[in-house]
Amino acid sequence: MKPTTHVVDNEKMDRAILVSLVTQEQKKREALAEYSLQELVQLAETAGVEVLATMTQNKESADTKWFIGKGKVEELRALMEELGANTAIFDQELSGAQVRNLEEALDAKIIDRTQLILDIFAQRAKTREGIIQVELAQLSYLLPRLSGQGKNLSRLGGGIGTRGPGETKLETDRRHIRERIGELKAQLEEVVRHRKLHRERRKKSGVFQVALVGYTNAGKSTLLRQLTNADVYVENQLFATLDPTSRTLTLPSGKEIVLTDTVGFIQNLPHDLVAAFRATLEEANEADLILHVVDSSTEMRNEQMRVVAEVLEELGAHRQEQLTVFNKIDLLPDEQQAMLFAEGDFIKMSAYREDDLQRLRLAVQDKLMGERLTFRIPADKGELISLVYRIGDVLENEVDGEEMLFQVRVNKDDYAKMGYLLAAYDQHKQQYGQEDKGESF
Ligand code: GTP
Repeated sequence: MKPTTHVVDNEKMDRAILVSLVTQEQKKREALAEYSLQELVQLAETAGVEVLATMTQNKESADTKWFIGKGKVEELRALMEELGANTAIFDQELSGAQVRNLEEALDAKIIDRTQLILDIFAQRAKTREGIIQVELAQLSYLLPRLSGQGKNLSRLGGGIGTRGPGETKLETDRRHIRERIGELKAQLEEVVRHRKLHRERRKKSGVFQVALVGYTNAGKSTLLRQLTNADVYVENQLFATLDPTSRTLTLPSGKEIVLTDTVGFIQNLPHDLVAAFRATLEEANEADLILHVVDSSTEMRNEQMRVVAEVLEELGAHRQEQLTVFNKIDLLPDEQQAMLFAEGDFIKMSAYREDDLQRLRLAVQDKLMGERLTFRIPADKGELISLVYRIGDVLENEVDGEEMLFQVRVNKDDYAKMGYLLAAYDQHKQQYGQEDKGESF
């Protein structure tokens, strides 16, 4: 069943005030709290909410009853009245009790960051897998917040524009929700099993798989589209892509690989969500290469890169081969471009420049297919020549007197297994010189 989503009805459009609590602990990283609130504005707009104002409270720690202080609740109520707001969105996660108290005090819809993200996901989910995952995440969010009262249920059930697990579920009790979670998990396992089979089939066919990962809005879908001419949804919005999209990419050598776009990451990505989207993100886990796309133009790029690295680690995907793609450098002055740096291999580029795209294709090719090496083999050494063909793709070959000259894009694994024979031949040649060629083979 699809998670209920209703397009925001203009007459009932959510008109919201966004609230952030900056605790003593967070104050040490003030820029981060400020950025998080800006991001919340973007998230709210992505969800179709009209943002009327933002409000920040500095406080030692969260108030267990009201989350923000009682005085601040009063201030918020007055502001909401003045601006005609019907919703308050909090940048942090609220407990069920805090939601209820605030709802009563403000007589408005109360939404927290997690619920907002879940709402956007619910709007975006299209494939069966995405739909199951979103509903699962929504119910996992809802379950610990249930306390039995009808009003709470109905309020909690509806997020932005009354999206959420849906009206019918509002009357359901914990048991029903648990049952539904069980069902969804079973369905998801089935989808995951299918996906796995599909991936294994692709793997067996020897097709390389490359996953685009990165913070939301980094430009993953743009790259997928630009690299493969695919008809992919690109929006200057958060989480434009929810379901993984795979397309065939032809590398300069002519070899075809599969490139997959994955869901964007975000700071404070709720834990349940990471777990629920495991199936989708497993694409990254199994990829031969991960392209970590970074929006170079944002001041928060280091922070965003850290979030992505953390989520990859959580998924166990951090051990995969990676290439960092510093995207959107067209938006960055030259002197700042020079400062971009990542551990391991990286490339600086713009998804809108054809020569940069070609450099990226070549970099992907090099990462996947290893180096391009030259071998000189006596023309009568058939077994050595067949070995050359087994360690990679022969790009060029030509006859040079009694020898054959091969340009080979070596496959790392095969070269590790069999390349020593050729290396031994090379050493032999160096030791005895060209006159001795072929003698020992
Ligand atoms: P999610 O789906 O939210 O995870 O985002 P995404 O990473 O797929 O980003 P998307 O491709 O949707 O791009 C986000 C915005 O960045 C769009 O407005 C793109 O046009 C823009 N963009 C992407 N790459 C570049 C680039 O190299 N330069 C510039 N100037 N803009 C870019």
